[in-house]
Amino acid sequence: MGPDVIREVLTKYHTYHKSFKTSNEIAKMLATGLVIKEGEEWAKARMKLNPAFHLEKLKPMVPAIQVCSQNTLNEWKEMASKGGGSCCFDVYPYLEVFTSSVLARLMFDSTYTEQLKQTFLQLSELAFMGKLATNPLTLPGEKYFPTKKNRRAKEIDKYVRASFTSMINQRLEKRKAGVEHANQDLLDLFMQELYDGENLNDGDRQRIIDDIIGQCKIFFYAGYETNSNLLTWTMVMLSAHQDWQARAREEAVQVLGNKKEITYEDLGKLKIATMILNEMLRLFPSSMELSRLVKEETILGGYTIPKDTLVTCPIIILQRSTEIWGKDAGEFNPERFAEGIMKATKGENAYMPFGWGPRICIAQNFALLESKTFFAMLLLNFSFELSPTYVHAPFVDFTLHPQYGAPIVLKKL
Ligand code: HEM
Repeated sequence: MGPDVIREVLTKYHTYHKSFKTSNEIAKMLATGLVIKEGEEWAKARMKLNPAFHLEKLKPMVPAIQVCSQNTLNEWKEMASKGGGSCCFDVYPYLEVFTSSVLARLMFDSTYTEQLKQTFLQLSELAFMGKLATNPLTLPGEKYFPTKKNRRAKEIDKYVRASFTSMINQRLEKRKAGVEHANQDLLDLFMQELYDGENLNDGDRQRIIDDIIGQCKIFFYAGYETNSNLLTWTMVMLSAHQDWQARAREEAVQVLGNKKEITYEDLGKLKIATMILNEMLRLFPSSMELSRLVKEETILGGYTIPKDTLVTCPIIILQRSTEIWGKDAGEFNPERFAEGIMKATKGENAYMPFGWGPRICIAQNFALLESKTFFAMLLLNFSFELSPTYVHAPFVDFTLHPQYGAPIVLKKL
């Protein structure tokens, strides 16, 4: 549990591998792409994708994120207008649509078309089924039976593969016709090997296409639920802490006022928002724990750890440790981040909501840009409080989310 031990596990990626040796057939359909690659193959893929997440590349994404935020907020405004200026609903599914529409921009440089919407919806159904399949009461060998669930999972996988394959073919055709794609998106990066390999045999070509489909699936899965969780928990906690909601709104008004277009530089000025998001990721990290499989016998924290041992790093315990964070470690107090993360942790490596080491979240900067943009626009348009029907029940399946959703009362400003 010590920060240094956790840091060692997450840093020595040759010794500690990702533990995706799942026997859950449905989860296997999702655990694909970058997150399950190891060694050279992983390093090559990560190096190819890293530039897409450098700040210079992300800055121009801010206006697109603003449009997606506005679309969601317009829908909420309409609902509020029908309710005489206010409305009450579970915000979680709407935030899932918002994060999916932002991913459509990042991954496919596209608006949230019907095809993308249907593909993403099916993928989230698959994710839901994969979670149910982690139930320990699953019968041995159940995966081989043509149960309704297994048949549906296969059907979805087929649909999703066909949808991504058609997008890949469209890109190839455009390229053949000499139509340059103006904004390089993630799909372009995923497809680089296909673009470069003109004389590939059918087998290699299919292997590369399978890999691209795997990347599309995992980037969607890794990207939509984590960010929806962060935004939902932020809305819940700011509903419960009206003083912080007011401070964050005051800041948003000061920095953004009536600006038509938000810029990356504006987001950098939102100090209170940053403190709040840091505190949310400390209290409610989407990945509560990170696991690794020991590849070869090793010594860790003075113990000999045999090959094939599963090591679990309890991120949430570390981030709520009273020894490191003080007596109020379990409470919502963004003030602790007033002078940055290093000061808040007193120099200890005790803050890892995006992981640590070489396999740290590739999209952490993007996730924060997205959350800050939405959050600032939300504060400018609405005040909000918890509905009396809200039940505080943080729940973990793959990620940490509110078990009974997040019903919130929103009032138009
Ligand atoms: C608040 C939002 C997010 C949180 C808290 C988060 C958290 C994490 C964590 C903890 C890891 C490391 C897992 C490990 O070491 O086992 C990770 C990896 C990853 N994340 Fe995120 N993430 C977020 C948003 C995103 C988004 C928006 C995307 C995609 C656009 C994304 C894509 C990935 C990918 C592909 C990896 C695997 C990196 C690798 O293995 O090299 N994440 N994320």
